[in-house]
Amino acid sequence: SEVKYYSKIDSTNTEAKKLAQMGEKEGTVVIAEEQTGGRGRKGRAWNSPFGMGIWVSVILRPQISPVEAPGLTLVAAVAAAKAVRNVTGLPVKIKWPNDLMLNSKKVGGILTELSAEIEVVNFIVVGIGINVNNESFPEELREIATSLKIEQAGKEKLDRVQLLCELLHRFEEEYFAFITGRQKEILKQWKGLSDTLSSIVRVIGPSSIIEGRAVDLDETGALLVEKEDGSVERIISGDVSLRS
Ligand code: BTN
Repeated sequence: SEVKYYSKIDSTNTEAKKLAQMGEKEGTVVIAEEQTGGRGRKGRAWNSPFGMGIWVSVILRPQISPVEAPGLTLVAAVAAAKAVRNVTGLPVKIKWPNDLMLNSKKVGGILTELSAEIEVVNFIVVGIGINVNNESFPEELREIATSLKIEQAGKEKLDRVQLLCELLHRFEEEYFAFITGRQKEILKQWKGLSDTLSSIVRVIGPSSIIEGRAVDLDETGALLVEKEDGSVERIISGDVSLRS
């Protein structure tokens, strides 16, 4: 498939959405050295300095119901965690629903954007950001963000092309599993790579805060949290912090 490479762009996700809207085919990849308006979940900005990371978006056109779309975030998280592990040996973990973590700091994230009508998906853009060779972060991110280079024993610069290739291969593999009905396999791998399950969590949702033990992920990718009174809440979105 096609790769569109930019030195500088506002956001690879925004560009991929524009291309998809104009009919761009499934599998087209948009990458950039730098994003001037990189976006994270919940309208947050994503720090994307020149040449430091992997800022990539993929256009997908799966024949699925819109409610299944969150599964693609799991696909991307599993692919990204495996790629980083295979190339660097670093023990990256996934924090629900989409954060890539190393030593309790965030090293990457996923932003899935959907264009759908009732019951049909037009396209989905999956954006993946991985902090690879960053040496420092803006003040407000210093405590919570890290890069692969910072976490590596030798503090060596990593080969972003090698990592990107591995990422796209793993993504293709997991995506194929997803569209051929092997969601269970993906879920199982996600669980194995998760640092959230069995932890005590606090979830800040749109209308409430829930505390309890993250006991499982259901088949749609929702997080199941068991509260102190034994009842289980199904959480489809929110910010999770790990308590222990
Ligand atoms: C998050 O953790 O909040 C998601 C971060 C997603 C960042 C990636 S970088 C490539 C793509 N383009 C964007 O503007 N965002 C995603």
